[in-house]
Amino acid sequence: MMNTDTFFGGAPEVNASAPGRVNLLGEHTDYNDGFMLPVATPQGTMVAMSRSGDDHFHFYSPTFDNTVTFAQDGSAPQGYGSYVEGCIRLVQAEGVEVPPLRVYITTNLPVGSGLSSSAALEVATLRALRALLGFELDDVKLARIAQRAEIEYAHVNCGIMDQMASSLADETSMLFIDARTLEHRLVKMPADTELIVIDSGVARKLAASKYNERRAECEEASRKLGVQALRDVTDPASVETLPSPMRERARHVVMENLRVLEAAEGVSAERFGELMNASHFSLRDDYEVSIPELDELCEHLRAAPGVLGARLTGAGFGGACVALCRAGQAQEAAAAALAAYNSKQGRQGRILVPVPTEQKGQQ
Ligand code: GLA
Repeated sequence: MMNTDTFFGGAPEVNASAPGRVNLLGEHTDYNDGFMLPVATPQGTMVAMSRSGDDHFHFYSPTFDNTVTFAQDGSAPQGYGSYVEGCIRLVQAEGVEVPPLRVYITTNLPVGSGLSSSAALEVATLRALRALLGFELDDVKLARIAQRAEIEYAHVNCGIMDQMASSLADETSMLFIDARTLEHRLVKMPADTELIVIDSGVARKLAASKYNERRAECEEASRKLGVQALRDVTDPASVETLPSPMRERARHVVMENLRVLEAAEGVSAERFGELMNASHFSLRDDYEVSIPELDELCEHLRAAPGVLGARLTGAGFGGACVALCRAGQAQEAAAAALAAYNSKQGRQGRILVPVPTEQKGQQ
């Protein structure tokens, strides 16, 4: 494995970083022009960057112990390099001259747990490019370019939440996002609470195909209701005339938006927990993106001391669950929930937040 000194032959010209995200409320609402409330993860991705001085791009990541090299007019093979290349090409498309570069990527974000390690990579890459080349790029535009890199270069048909969260959220407040206007503001976490995030250890196998299927069902529902997007439905009763499964999908989106709007006004910790539970049940029963492992993990979390509510976070079909817990009790509650979850054979859950001591400071 190469360190930065060996890779750059000295210190890099710039360093940048970006966090992942945990969404607290507002799941599968972003591509319906709706609302959401993510926070940034303590873990993140670091990108070091210099001009390469030759006519090739060179990327290296110790995480994959893999070097990607391609000519100025060539392209990176699919993999982490395509996210980085996508950011570079889209910045070039904005009219910025980008010389061939050396890029070194490290991360302490678990890849594949649904904490948006890809958004963190895109946002950190764009921040490094902005710092190195000194062009103007505000944080919302940066998020939009990051999302395009994901769609056009990594071929993942995502919404805007992950990139907005990585670009604009912090660890201590929630970021309220309106996905239609991209208006956003920081909202205080409920008083005296802490978060728990546990990875179920289940890979998100069906996520991509089911994600696209759900998007299509939502588009069909909005066509039938004669609205531009499900965000425009404010009376939950109006979805009940739709045929199944459009009815259930639309019901989830409409109710989920209402939950986010209520929570963003500022509610008690107990109420916030109830809204998280309701969100999970709706994702399980109406949106059908949960799996038994995530349901069980949430049940163990709800049974743990101090926990006020728990839900799956991210697209579903695997990945992580998030819980809201009374301050000071998260460590103990997370350990209890994890032990109960992992007691079934073959389970490989792990705690991501609070960050386990052995991971602190790890790159
Ligand atoms: C993934 C996508 C996001 C969002 C969530 C579901 O994380 O990348 O844009 O749609 O799923 O809320």
